[in-house]
Amino acid sequence: MSLEPITIRRMRFEFPAELDPVFIEGEPEESYVNVSMSLLLPYLEPYLIRTMTAAKAKVTDPVLREQLEGFIGQEGQHYREHAKFNEALRAKGFTSVAPLEQALEEDYRRFAKTRSLRFNLAYAEGFEAMTTAMALVFVGLDRSKWDPRALDLFSWHLMEELEHRTVAFDVYHHVAGGYFYRVGVGLYAQAHLMRFLIRATLAMVADSSERLEQLGGKRAHKQRWNALNLRVLPRLLPKVLRTYLPWYHPRGIEMPPVVRQWRERFTREATSTRGCP
Ligand SMILES: [Fe+2]
Ligand SMILES: [Fe+2]
Repeated sequence: MSLEPITIRRMRFEFPAELDPVFIEGEPEESYVNVSMSLLLPYLEPYLIRTMTAAKAKVTDPVLREQLEGFIGQEGQHYREHAKFNEALRAKGFTSVAPLEQALEEDYRRFAKTRSLRFNLAYAEGFEAMTTAMALVFVGLDRSKWDPRALDLFSWHLMEELEHRTVAFDVYHHVAGGYFYRVGVGLYAQAHLMRFLIRATLAMVADSSERLEQLGGKRAHKQRWNALNLRVLPRLLPKVLRTYLPWYHPRGIEMPPVVRQWRERFTREATSTRGCP
C-alpha cells in the first residue's frame, strides 16, 4: 500500500469571544470532553514535535524523513489553531482546569528531559494510535448539533491525524523498535492522556453547575453522560484494542470517503499549503 501524501495546510479559523463552550447543542458533557482534548494539544503537540525533531538525525530513510517533516509541519499548525480556540473558551471561566494544564506541561517537559528517545517515540505512537482511532469514531458520529466553527477545527485536525497516521509508528520502529515496549509505553501514554481528559472534563462540569442546572440538573447530566459512553465506547475500544496486536500497522487503515472529501475541501480553503501531491 502506498503512503498517503502529507500536506501542511495553514488555516485561518476564527473563534469569536461569543463562542459557546457547549458547542454541541444540548450536550455539555460531550462538548467538555472535546474542549479537554483541545486544551491538551498545545502541551502535547509541541512535545511530539520536540521528540520527532530529536529523532530526525537518526532517520536514514529519505522517504520517512520527508514524512517526519510533514508530521512536524501538521502538528505545528494543529496546536496553534487549538490554542486560539482554547483562548476564546477560556474567557468563559473554567478556572479549575488551569492547575491540571500546568501539571501536564511539567510532565511533558520532564519526559523530554529525563526519558529516553525510545520512550518519547513510543509515547508519541501511543497518542497517534489513539487519535487515529478517535478520528475513525468521529467520522461515524452524528455531528449535526455541532457549532460549525468547532466542527471545522476538529474535522480538519482529525483528517490530518489520519493523513500522518503511519509516521510515529514508522519512526519508532526505524529508530528504536520493540513490540512489547511500544505496547507498554503506549498503554501508559493513553492512561496519562485519559487521566487529563477525565479530570479536565469533571473540572469543567463542576465549574458550570448553573448551566447544567438549566439543562435538567443532576439527573439529566447522568443520563447524557451514560448515553455518551454508550455511543462512543463500543466504537472506540475495539479500534484502540487492535492497535495492541503484534501485526498492527496504521498503514492498513483505510481513509473513509468523507475524510477524503475533507482533505480536498481544507486544501482548497487553506491560506497556504506545502507538500501537496
Ligand atoms: Fe495533531
Ligand atoms: Fe498527530
